Amino acid sequence: MLGAAAGGGLPQWNCRCEVCRLARTEPDRVTPRTQSSLAVSVDGQRWALINCAPEVLTQLHREPALHPREGSGDRHTPIESVLLTNGDVDHVAGLLSLRERSPWRLYATPEIHGVLRHNPIFNVLAPDCVERFDVALDSSVELLPGLAVRIFAVPGKTALYLEGDEVEIGAEGEATIGVEFSHQGQRLYYIPGCATLTPALATRLDGADALLFDGTLWRDDEMITAGVGRKTGQRMGHMPMSGAAGSIAALAGLTLGRRIFVHINNTNPVLIEDSPERREAEQAGWEIAFDGMEIEP
Ligand code: MLT
Ligand code: MN
Ligand code: ZN
Repeated sequence: MLGAAAGGGLPQWNCRCEVCRLARTEPDRVTPRTQSSLAVSVDGQRWALINCAPEVLTQLHREPALHPREGSGDRHTPIESVLLTNGDVDHVAGLLSLRERSPWRLYATPEIHGVLRHNPIFNVLAPDCVERFDVALDSSVELLPGLAVRIFAVPGKTALYLEGDEVEIGAEGEATIGVEFSHQGQRLYYIPGCATLTPALATRLDGADALLFDGTLWRDDEMITAGVGRKTGQRMGHMPMSGAAGSIAALAGLTLGRRIFVHINNTNPVLIEDSPERREAEQAGWEIAFDGMEIEP
């Protein structure tokens, strides 16, 4: 887990909500976290990133397995590919930092590739170096030798910077995807953004060995009540953890080896180690992801 926080990170640069304040003053109670990204490997040598956060350089620097390897020449990276789950800033801005002419492959849906193509700054990723590959929904792609993943649509929404006057929330298409990893008979899902749990999605996830799921907010209106925003979680395309319509309840009936919240917003009280919300989530069987968390089969 390179980064377990949602957009803004923890602490967020301009935020004085309770969680951000504790992250600055009492790091034992709230561990700072960088924005949402996962590194995956089969052999510990060759790596793929799922999403690429603005802090990617810090994330790579603090993980020796992701450094250029000795004996591989003056330029090397163990990162061979990057897969995007949406076009949000927290998931794509780091791509700009991987531009110094090491070859790697960029995978996304045709829609997300289109978004990047319309932002000419991403042309710093030279096409003779960084090859871009379309991945169709419900198809699988080999991110690394021996690591095939399948992508599928989840209810979501378009990226914030693409929103027009009317925003469709919960649309299932190429804008927001989940990722299924299968390896040696085990299944892991990574779904950092999800607006609702549809019956079809529940059926898909049931029986998985691990689920890494959207943990943006505890309560749908928590940014409003904390006085730091005007939007509900629903409006941002994220289902809350708690409540009758929350992910803890919605996923309670599923058989899952591990359930882990990722993409956690800095207003979310589960980030406070000794909070009642943390206790409630853990009692329901959930783990709260942190930077540097390792998940092994
Ligand atoms: C989100 O997950 O809702 C976005 O990352 C929000 C943002 O763009 O900061
Ligand atoms: Mn996000
Ligand atoms: Zn905050």
